Amino acid sequence: MIYIAINGNFAGQRIFTTSELEQYTNLENGLYLSILGQVFDVTKGQKHYGPGGNYHFFTGRDASLAFITGEFDDNSLTDDISSLSVQQVKMLNDWIEFYNTNYVYKGKLYGRYYNKDGSPTAESYKVQETVLLAKKIESLEEKQKRMFPPCNIEWTPDIGTVFWCSKKSGGIDRDWVGVPRMLFETANMPSRCACIKLDSKEYEENKAMLREYNGCAKYATKCIVEMK
Ligand code: HEM
Repeated sequence: MIYIAINGNFAGQRIFTTSELEQYTNLENGLYLSILGQVFDVTKGQKHYGPGGNYHFFTGRDASLAFITGEFDDNSLTDDISSLSVQQVKMLNDWIEFYNTNYVYKGKLYGRYYNKDGSPTAESYKVQETVLLAKKIESLEEKQKRMFPPCNIEWTPDIGTVFWCSKKSGGIDRDWVGVPRMLFETANMPSRCACIKLDSKEYEENKAMLREYNGCAKYATKCIVEMK
């Protein structure tokens, strides 16, 4: 089941304005931060977020972009994440899961991601769609990796590149070894070495994406590609 780290609307949840949130940067009021418009109380992490802490600048605002860029100057502490890739938006969503697990959810920030009544803005829906897309891509890649596990690879200046397959190559535990082949997953990407089970349906169905290594015997489980 696909899960997005969006806390649902519920009656009585607090909607913060930007200037209300700005009050929560000290231990008297509490330490709050917002990420993609979701507000968390991070007071128990005061060693990180308290005055003088390394991540104090995250409090009292929504600095979603900086969670990914790692740039912490005033210009970069913004909730505008339009420069992020699909995968990076997913990483940002993982931060929300982190805060949901470790801290206390407090409500929504009125602004870019939530309306005055706490309902999501169009931009918020766009982010949710991007997270779903990233999860779909990840699960397709995972499926592809299980079907065509990566080879072991070693490079030495005198021998060149050695590709070989084993029952654990690519971190995929299996009961077959397979033979190394160049796998062209997408048109514009370079090929990767994949271990192929020659008597499988997957091999028959995807032959067009696969090529043998020059100078490597058809059934060899190890190929040496010399540097020219
Ligand atoms: C994109 C860049 C980075 C971001 C957004 C980031 C953010 C954070 C945040 C929010 C925390 C507090 C987590 C919590 O509430 O428990 C944290 C903790 C920490 N970060 Fe970073 N960080 C970044 C890069 C780094 C780098 C490059 C280092 C090391 C050179 C580092 C070292 C640490 C350490 C040591 C902790 C404390 C861990 C602990 O005591 O539990 N961080 N980071």
